[in-house]
Amino acid sequence: MALNSNEINGKATIGKNTILKIEDLSIAFGGLKAVDSLSFDIKEKEIFGLIGPNGAGKTTVFNCITQFYKPDRGTVLFRDNKNQVEDLVGKKPHEIIKKGLVRTFQNVELIKELSLVDNVLVGSHIEFQASLISQILKLPKARKEEAKYREKAEEVLNHMGLYHIKDQLAAGQPYGVLKKIELARTLMCEPKLIILDEPAAGLNDSETLALIDMVREIKDKFNCSILLVEHDMRFVTDLCDRICAISFGKLLAIGTPGEIQANEEVQAAYLGKGDE
Ligand SMILES: Nc1ncnc2c1ncn2[C@@H]1O[C@H](COP(=O)(O)OP(=O)(O)OP(=O)(O)O)[C@@H](O)[C@H]1O
Ligand SMILES: [Mg+2]
Repeated sequence: MALNSNEINGKATIGKNTILKIEDLSIAFGGLKAVDSLSFDIKEKEIFGLIGPNGAGKTTVFNCITQFYKPDRGTVLFRDNKNQVEDLVGKKPHEIIKKGLVRTFQNVELIKELSLVDNVLVGSHIEFQASLISQILKLPKARKEEAKYREKAEEVLNHMGLYHIKDQLAAGQPYGVLKKIELARTLMCEPKLIILDEPAAGLNDSETLALIDMVREIKDKFNCSILLVEHDMRFVTDLCDRICAISFGKLLAIGTPGEIQANEEVQAAYLGKGDE
């Protein structure tokens, strides 16, 4: 058997300060290699950006990390909120959320008919301990549990400046509010790594600046790392400690924002696809 550099005595290992390490990650759809032997790692408390032209494979990388798609090849080693390192490949998406790896989607996915606070609760994927029957009948144990999580959801909304509108319906809310609600959901389950797919899309300049501050605050308050995809280059360069640029599913470069901006291959990939 080939010696795996990520194993010691059969156990997965990564650097002490590494939260996520993907290695040789690959997936193809038909003949199209959407992610092609991609490797990178993310450190604790790091804000890490993934950039690339439209269709480069960014969302697919997120789907392979969170096991919405099963990669054809490669490993996804993650240090969870119990400090255990495991390969996530083959695990169920809800198991991964419980380990503290949570995400938002490129398109906001909320239930319009529910209030903002209920959207945070419903979407948080928290497993209630009370049985389904007692939840339906609203027996005391279930009620107590719901109250506890509701309190937490309200605390998160307060932190994001949305407490005053928590009982309003999601329907008709400005886009910026809906994006914040998605972010609020990720904070409900002891996140160690939060994955954000185009968090600034559709936001105006002042909302984008506010989001930069909010992501930093979240990182500090929750002591977690952030992996994000964003087309707004100012957002990425202002916020990220390091950036990984990909094109046609392959790695182009990894480095500081300055290094990535100066990289000729990265510039060529963007120029080839027009202004993004
Ligand atoms: N489920 C799927 N079935 C078939 N092809 C897919 C699937 N998901 C993604 N692809 C293809 O894989 C490639 C990468 O898509 P992906 O959505 O990851 O790109 P992206 O970098 O997120 O793009 P964007 O910036 O537009 O969001 C594209 O060619 C896309 O059409
Ligand atoms: Mg995408």
